[in-house]
Parts: sequence; structure tokens; C-alpha cells
Amino acid sequence: MRIIAPSVLSLDYSRLSETVQELNESKAKWIHYDVMDGHFVPNLTFGPDILRGFRKMSNHFLDVHLMIEDPLKYADMFIEAGADGITFHSECFKSVDEMIDFIDYLHSKNVSVGITSKPETDMNSYKEVLGLVDLVLVMSVEPGFGGQSFQEGALDKIRTLDGWRKELEFDYLIQVDGGINAETAQLALKAGVDVLVAGSYIFKGDVTEKIDELWNL
Ligand code: DX5
Ligand code: ZN
Repeated sequence: MRIIAPSVLSLDYSRLSETVQELNESKAKWIHYDVMDGHFVPNLTFGPDILRGFRKMSNHFLDVHLMIEDPLKYADMFIEAGADGITFHSECFKSVDEMIDFIDYLHSKNVSVGITSKPETDMNSYKEVLGLVDLVLVMSVEPGFGGQSFQEGALDKIRTLDGWRKELEFDYLIQVDGGINAETAQLALKAGVDVLVAGSYIFKGDVTEKIDELWNL
């Protein structure tokens, strides 16, 4: 399984509709949408209204990555605006039980559910919920900004997740986000990743060519 999820954090918004058209015709079938609140991460991005615009322009899977302190409060707004998948950070929850309730709630709204955490967070702290989610996102940079370098520690996490899903018959996709280019994508794929998020690599170059390059690795 290989899915390419361009992160529109790095899109040139002066060329929005042409670029989305290019994405629609490309081999990337997802759009990765980074929501930042200036609290959970030191940066601000977009809310649900812009997502509604993407929903109108594209039938791609809208993969919403919530880097916000209170995902419970805002998830509905993104679902209502057209999100197909919601990924939340484990650090925003006080207990595994709260996470389970949130995952059940999101599933009741018919969206696919992803879990993630910052690079230093131990995945064992939420291993119990991994049988319930559709996707596990491995952050290969500190969340907050595009254009950072890939942290090799992510490869161990990917291998661990791949091992767990084989041993424990979990059914999630493994996604990687941060510093992905042709070289780091190759390493992540070898480690067992299914979904490649790439922002600056795709949007700072020729969008179709860069997507093809990741597709053909
Ligand atoms: C970082 C975001 C990423 C970001 C990746 O917090 O979650 O999705 O767009 O950007 P690149 O691919 O430039 O590292
Ligand atoms: Zn992201």
C-alpha cells in the first residue's frame, strides 16, 4: 500500500485553484491539512472554512491533522466542513479512556481516525488504543513547521508499529510526516510506512513531477 498525501501547509496560496487541479489529476489521492492553534504548537494555520474550500475543489481524501490543544472541542467543525479523516495528538488527552471515547465518537461520525504524538512521546503510552484506530501517524519532525529535517528516530517507530500490527493483527495504516523527500521516503517505505506526507518537497518543486517521483520509488 502506498498513499501520497501532499501537505498543503506549503502550497502557494496565490495559485490555489490551479494547484488543487494539479493534485486532483495526480497520483496523490489524499490532501494532508495541518491545523495549528498557536498553543499546542507555536504556529497558526487554518480553520474549517478553508477546508470547506478544499472539499468543494477536490474529491481527494481530506486528511486533517489536528495540532491543537482541544481536539474534542473542534473536531466536529472539521467533520462538518468535509474532513474524511481526523488525526489527533495523544498528548491532548489525560487518559487512555478519554482517547477511546473520542475515537468511538469520531467513528460514530463516519470519519476515519488517526492517532499521533510528538517525536519524544513514547507510543507505549497509547498502545492500548491502536486496535481501534485506522491510522497511526509517526511525526518525523517536531510538529509546527514545514521544511524541517527528517529525524531518523521515526524509522524505529515505524518498524515498531509495523511489528505490532503483524503480531497483534492491528489494522492501521502507518503514516509519516515531516522532512519527507525521495531519500527519506525510501527509508520510511523500507521500514513499513504506507502513507507519505510531504509538504515542501512537493510544493517547492513541480507538483506532478515530485508526486510521480515519490510514487515511483
Ligand atoms: C508539521 C506538519 C507537516 C508539514 C510537513 O508540523 O505536520 O505536515 O507540512 O512539511 P515538510 O514536508 O515540509 O516537512
Ligand atoms: Zn501534518
